[in-house]
Amino acid sequence: PAPSPIGVDPLRSVAKEMSFLTGNIQQLLGSGHPMLDTVAKYYTQSEGKYVRPMLVLLMSRATALAPKDSRRVSRYQSVDEPISPSSVLSDVNPSSPLMAESDQTSPETDVLPSQRRLAEITELIHTASLLHDDVIDHSLSRRSAPSANIAFGNKMAVLAGDFLLGRASVALARLRDPEVTELLATVIANLVEGEFMQLKNTAKDEKNPVWTEETVTYYLQKTYLKSASLISKSCRAAALLGQSSPEVVEAAYAYGKNLGLAFQLVDDVLDYTISGEELGKPGGADLELGLATAPLLFAWRENKELGALVGRKFAEDGDVLKARELVARSDGLEQTRALAQEYVDKAIQAISSFPDSEAKDGLIDMIEPSKRLRKAILLNDLSLIKRIVRNNP
Ligand code: FPP
Ligand code: MG
Ligand code: MG
Repeated sequence: PAPSPIGVDPLRSVAKEMSFLTGNIQQLLGSGHPMLDTVAKYYTQSEGKYVRPMLVLLMSRATALAPKDSRRVSRYQSVDEPISPSSVLSDVNPSSPLMAESDQTSPETDVLPSQRRLAEITELIHTASLLHDDVIDHSLSRRSAPSANIAFGNKMAVLAGDFLLGRASVALARLRDPEVTELLATVIANLVEGEFMQLKNTAKDEKNPVWTEETVTYYLQKTYLKSASLISKSCRAAALLGQSSPEVVEAAYAYGKNLGLAFQLVDDVLDYTISGEELGKPGGADLELGLATAPLLFAWRENKELGALVGRKFAEDGDVLKARELVARSDGLEQTRALAQEYVDKAIQAISSFPDSEAKDGLIDMIEPSKRLRKAILLNDLSLIKRIVRNNP
């Protein structure tokens, strides 16, 4: 694709849409119970990276000019009938949580209201999974602040996650698109399946597992479910809501799937290579959590002694240090980076037939590790992300 003119950031094309996101999400999460309201909105207060909504918006714009399937009719209607706010203390929050700004069509852009709502739904599901994840992982911090389980306790964190899924489901139902509903409902199941697979490092529950090709297959399947399913299926849903042709829908899906896999592999590398301060969450956490990610699995292929450590989830004294050393001495990190690059190439290839546009450049920008935004996201540099996204350097 033609490079964008110097000084023009392709993400500009969705900057305006992004600026409404936090407000809309907060409206979707309003509860009449003040405490639930606080916990549910907690992770939306310290503004997140909004990678998933950004991808949905970029995909929506990038497919707007691509071939259409005229047989597909959108039945989405702007919200006309408010759902009742939470039944408790209803006067605390009299407005309908679904009467969000995003229901107003913005004349300047070609993003449909349903696609904008989808962007918000992806963030709700993602945030729900983070609330639950931090309980499972006994996290202490997220986005450089105490995690919700620490700030409010496990019980409230879990319930707030469930509340987010409930509100996401209401918003999803209101899209009046059974195929899109099915996709996003499947994502929720996939997240749980992926997290469940991660509870064990290998398919079989063994004390001293042996490395096989299946070790990597299991890991990639887990990674798809936990990290790529939401991105791939929401990219697919964005194309469906835009009445794209079947080929365009498949391309959107392939882009999201390969991007999601690449993101997670890069994340796995970062856990070994960058400090906690830069990450905004503890570094080197995976081994401490007993997790054998890609760099370790590749190191294991060469150092069979790692099998016993994988089997006991690096739980004995010195295991984590030993594993880290063996990874450092192997080409595990290099192999993981190379695999991530393969997925990056596939993602870019997937959308190569889309008509050239700013949004298409934005989709490519999201994935090129050399690009400014991608780097800012990887480093969790919130102020830089905000400056880029808001185009206010
Ligand atoms: C973050 O991973 C976690 C996920 C991407 C998904 C977690 C899924 C669940 C907890 C299942 C329940 C799902 C729902 C929708 C309620 P991480 O721990 O590797 O990353 P982190 O460093 O951000 O904590
Ligand atoms: Mg975690
Ligand atoms: Mg986790």
